[in-house]
Amino acid sequence: MTGVKRVPLGGSEASVPNVVLGLMRIADASDDEVRALVRAARDAGIDFFDHADIYGPGLHACERRFAEALRLTPAERAGITIQSKAGIVKDGPYYDFSYDHLVRSVEGSLEALQTDYLDILLLHRPDPLVEPDEVARAFDHLEQSGKVRAFGVSNHTPRQLDLLRASVRQPIVANQLQLSIVHAPIIAQGVAANRSGLAQAITEDGGGIVDYCRVNDITIQAWSPVQSGADAGVFLGSETYPELNAVIDRLAAQYDVPPIAIATAWITRHPAGMQVVLGTTTPERVTAAAQGSDLALTRPEWYELFRAAGHRVP
Ligand SMILES: NC(=O)c1ccc[n+]([C@@H]2O[C@H](COP(=O)([O-])OP(=O)(O)OC[C@H]3O[C@@H](n4cnc5c(N)ncnc54)[C@H](OP(=O)(O)O)[C@@H]3O)[C@@H](O)[C@H]2O)c1
Repeated sequence: MTGVKRVPLGGSEASVPNVVLGLMRIADASDDEVRALVRAARDAGIDFFDHADIYGPGLHACERRFAEALRLTPAERAGITIQSKAGIVKDGPYYDFSYDHLVRSVEGSLEALQTDYLDILLLHRPDPLVEPDEVARAFDHLEQSGKVRAFGVSNHTPRQLDLLRASVRQPIVANQLQLSIVHAPIIAQGVAANRSGLAQAITEDGGGIVDYCRVNDITIQAWSPVQSGADAGVFLGSETYPELNAVIDRLAAQYDVPPIAIATAWITRHPAGMQVVLGTTTPERVTAAAQGSDLALTRPEWYELFRAAGHRVP
C-alpha cells in the first residue's frame, strides 16, 4: 500500500499521518514483538508514536521498552514523531500541572526514550488546580531548552483550553480525546443538540469540543478507536453489538477491507482531519486498521454506522 493519508498538525506546516500507533500496551512485549509492531506501522506509512510517562508498570516503562527494543540511530530518531504526555500521578491518583512535575516528567521521558527531545508533549488530563501561568513557564522552559518542540493537551474541554491558551505562548496543536463509533459523546451530543428528553444531548465534554478544535486549528487525536468505552471492551466482533457489526461487516466486504478498517474510516471520514490512535499490539491489526485511513465513507454509510452503534439521529 502507498501509506496512510497525512493531515496538518494543528495550524502548523507539519503533516502527520491520520492513523498513528499508541504504545500504552507494550510493557510486556519482547524486543522482537516491539520491532514487528513498529515495522508494520512504518510499512503502512505511520511514523508517529504516542506515549505517556505513566504507560506500563511504574513510570516510563513503555517508553523505555520502545527505546530499548528499537535502539534508534540518530537518523532513525529524526525520521519519526514521538509524542508523550505528562500530568497524571498514578499513585493517588491525582493530576499535577505544576512546573516541577511537568519538567521532571519530560526529563524522565527523554531518559527512557533515549532521545534529546519530544516532538510533542500533551497535558494528559485536566488538573483542576492548574495555574495557567505556571504551565506557560514550564512550556517556555521546555521549548527554550530544546526538550519539547510542540505542545498539546488531552481530554480537555473548550473552556479548559481557553484558560490555558490565555497564558501559554505556544500554539496548542492537538487535543487527544476518547472517540470510537460506539463511544462518541463528542460527536453524538452535537447531533442531539436542542432536543429534549435525549440523554445524548447532555454534554460530557463541556460542549462543542470538536467544533472548538476545528475553529482553533487543534488536531483531534482519537484514542481507543475500537473500544466501546468504560470497561465494556472491544466492539468489533462483540455479540453486544450485533447490529453495528452487521453494518461494519457489510461495508468491509463492499470496500474489500478488514472490519477494523471501517472503525478507522468512521473517524478519518470526519472533515476535522483527526488522527486515529491505535492501541493494538498485533502487527496484522495495524496493517488492517491503516486500510481505513483514506476510505471515504458516504454520508449515508457514516450515519448508518452511527445509528447502528445506538446513537440517535433525532
Ligand atoms: N489520552 C488518553 O487519556 C488516553 C487513554 C487511553 C489510551 N490512549 C492512547 O490511545 C492508544 C489506543 O488506546 P487503546 O489501546 O485503548 O485502543 P484500541 O485500539 O481501541 O484498543 C486496542 C486493544 O484492543 C484489543 N483488541 C481486541 N480485539 C481487537 C480487534 N479486533 N481489533 C483491534 N484491537 C483489538 C487489542 O489487543 P491486541 O493488542 O492483542 O491486538 C488492544 O488490547 C493507547 O495506546 C494510548 O497511546 C490515550
